Amino acid sequence: MNNAISAACKVVVLIGGSGSNLQALIDAMPNSHYEIVGVISHNPNAFGLERAEKAHIQTTVVDHTAFAERSHFEVALHEAIQHFKPDLVLLAGFMRILSDTFVTQYTGHLLNIHPSLLPKFKGLHTHQRALEQGETHHGASVHFVSAELDGGPVIAQTIIEVGEDASAEALQQRVLKTEHWLYPEIVNWFSNGRLKLSQNVVLLDNQPIPETGLQFTFTEIEGIKQ
Ligand code: GAR
Repeated sequence: MNNAISAACKVVVLIGGSGSNLQALIDAMPNSHYEIVGVISHNPNAFGLERAEKAHIQTTVVDHTAFAERSHFEVALHEAIQHFKPDLVLLAGFMRILSDTFVTQYTGHLLNIHPSLLPKFKGLHTHQRALEQGETHHGASVHFVSAELDGGPVIAQTIIEVGEDASAEALQQRVLKTEHWLYPEIVNWFSNGRLKLSQNVVLLDNQPIPETGLQFTFTEIEGIKQ
């Protein structure tokens, strides 16, 4: 993999479920400098596979339940990814924890989107937990991936107000809408050679960004960037 990209940046997207973020990335592709060359799912029933096929993108299933050991699953996953020779790999609802050994192979070329304002609420049920903790603000983060669950240097976050009568489902929908804006935007930064990881520091246009990542506030209703 290299960062000096003149042709379109070749992207592989790893999914496990609905694939709405994948859809947002597909929809943004015509106006972007990346090409999704493959979609890989750890779940054979993921709806995202249908989205990819509809967009004529090659799909592969690496079913994690078929492997007795995580290391064997990761070898198969690595082979499936390498088949596409990508410049960038995206986790988009890929719900498997990846080992240090796996992640190290992709340092600086592996991104994840997570529905919380990291470092808060790593793991599952982020919206419910944000409500239970009485958070006034919630959102999503895109980060370079390290071996720690939902860990690694944050690139950018979307922030919304929680609202007094919010339910976890409503909050999830509102955050998801902002994810659909955020992920293609960041993939474009990478694809245009603007975004890099250097010695664990995120550089945008060769400048280090704040540790929280860049923060974008969204309006309550439409998910439009303010
Ligand atoms: C998204 O909300 C994404 O942030 C989250 O899974 C959802 C996938 O939705 N990822 C994580 O929780 C990773 N820890 P999608 O399949 O519709 O894109």
